[in-house]
Amino acid sequence: MKLAVSILSSNYDEEETIQRLNATDAEYLHLDIMDGHFVMDKTPEREFLHLSNKPLDVHLMVSNPFSYISKYAAMHVDCITISFETDDDKRGILGYIRSRGIKCGLAIKPETTVCELQDYLEMLDEIVVMTVEPGKGGQKMLDGPLDKISELVRLREEKGYNYKIVVDGGVNEETIEKVKEADMAVVGSYVCKSEDFQAQIDKLRL
Ligand code: DX5
Ligand code: ZN
Repeated sequence: MKLAVSILSSNYDEEETIQRLNATDAEYLHLDIMDGHFVMDKTPEREFLHLSNKPLDVHLMVSNPFSYISKYAAMHVDCITISFETDDDKRGILGYIRSRGIKCGLAIKPETTVCELQDYLEMLDEIVVMTVEPGKGGQKMLDGPLDKISELVRLREEKGYNYKIVVDGGVNEETIEKVKEADMAVVGSYVCKSEDFQAQIDKLRL
């Protein structure tokens, strides 16, 4: 399983967090962007992303995702994920991300069902199953959304879809067992609030 490390809640400042992450074998830097509207918190302007040696996995928790795309498309980015529960023209935005040569994803809140996503499944590179309410790091993983992982695996097999299944929220050495079927886990505080990032990552890969 691949790992994307979220730098949202860290014991270190942004520059040091990125440098510590660079020294690990994590596959991606997961960048959470919050606007103070779609979720209550607002993330600060990031200044040191250019120092990252990992491709970015951008997770937009914002009400107006379109206005953020150009900025992140200009960086070393693998995928940009928007939140399903925004009112914007999601199909148009996903197509726009694709047209910039970047993978596109949709993130779903714990209460959103796979059925609601149906019309988008064939056009997605990534589906982020939120296992906490979006908006804060360091929350406990919810069990409710976990069934969506096997549902998405089954649908992908049946219909030949190409999306990668990602879980985001509350991943640690105990909860990772519950999300094994996913292709990638986002992990934030378990890594960035520790002294040894690689040691924590090693425990997740066991
Ligand atoms: C939550 C964010 C997550 C979160 C992960 O809204 O999307 O990426 O920061 O952090 P942990 O692993 O601490 O739950
Ligand atoms: Zn996230």
